[in-house]
Amino acid sequence: MSKNPYESDELLQQYLIFHYANAEEQFPYAFGAVDALGFPQRCVSEGLDAALLPDAPRALDLGCSVGRSTFELARKCREVIGIDYSQAFIDAANRMKTQGLHPAWRLDEGSATTLLDLKVDAAIDPNRVHFEQGDAQHIREDIGQFDVVIACNLICRLPEPMRLLQRLSRLLKPGGQLLITTPFSWLEAYTPSENWLGDGAEDSFAGLRSALEPSFELQKQWDMPFLIREHARKFQYSIAQASRWVRN
Ligand SMILES: C[S@@+](CC[C@H](N)C(=O)[O-])C[C@H]1O[C@@H](n2cnc3c(N)ncnc32)[C@H](O)[C@@H]1O
Repeated sequence: MSKNPYESDELLQQYLIFHYANAEEQFPYAFGAVDALGFPQRCVSEGLDAALLPDAPRALDLGCSVGRSTFELARKCREVIGIDYSQAFIDAANRMKTQGLHPAWRLDEGSATTLLDLKVDAAIDPNRVHFEQGDAQHIREDIGQFDVVIACNLICRLPEPMRLLQRLSRLLKPGGQLLITTPFSWLEAYTPSENWLGDGAEDSFAGLRSALEPSFELQKQWDMPFLIREHARKFQYSIAQASRWVRN
């Protein structure tokens, strides 16, 4: 791809709002799609089994974007690393960490926008959170092992998802939890079709299962709707498939 869309200001504003704007600011309607709000928070609240966490857990958020799930993980984990390929997203996540707030322009209609002051919950300790720019397919070798790894809506944006899937067994401690959510929105622009999981012979989840099952046990599988606002009257409603795995 010649230009990374996740470096664009349009997607930066969209993801800041997706992650940090409240329900009313994102979707000012009492009908439809309400179940799809709060996705980054739900990735943590639905995605983790808190009863399985050891003392002082370490967590990794791969493809963290502007960082909301990373902050949410810090409610339960002592140290959380968020990694994203987009420098613009990591800069915004770091601004949230150091200042606790970040402005964002919300598109309402045409060229009409509203400036929102987005915030991180003051109850979250920002010192537990570290953001870094990096490639989830080539994670630095000295990063260590984790009690929790999440990769939300990332794998169908990678050129080589198998590179990440094959690395996961070394990233998780035995008994560690892995959450993967994905709408399996395969696009040639991101992933050559020969690298789409399951590619023709089986469905994508079967491909995910055969990549993970040697090292992980599937604990739970469910559907997670999510809503990304384009403007006040246009939204992307998608349904990610979520699965929680425990490292053998
Ligand atoms: C669809 S967004 C999902 C973001 C976030 N996890 C969420 O659920 O809102 C995909 C994210 O993956 C990031 N990304 C794409 N390729 C990546 C790579 N090779 N390594 C790390 N992050 C990547 C993008 O910059 C973007 O933030």
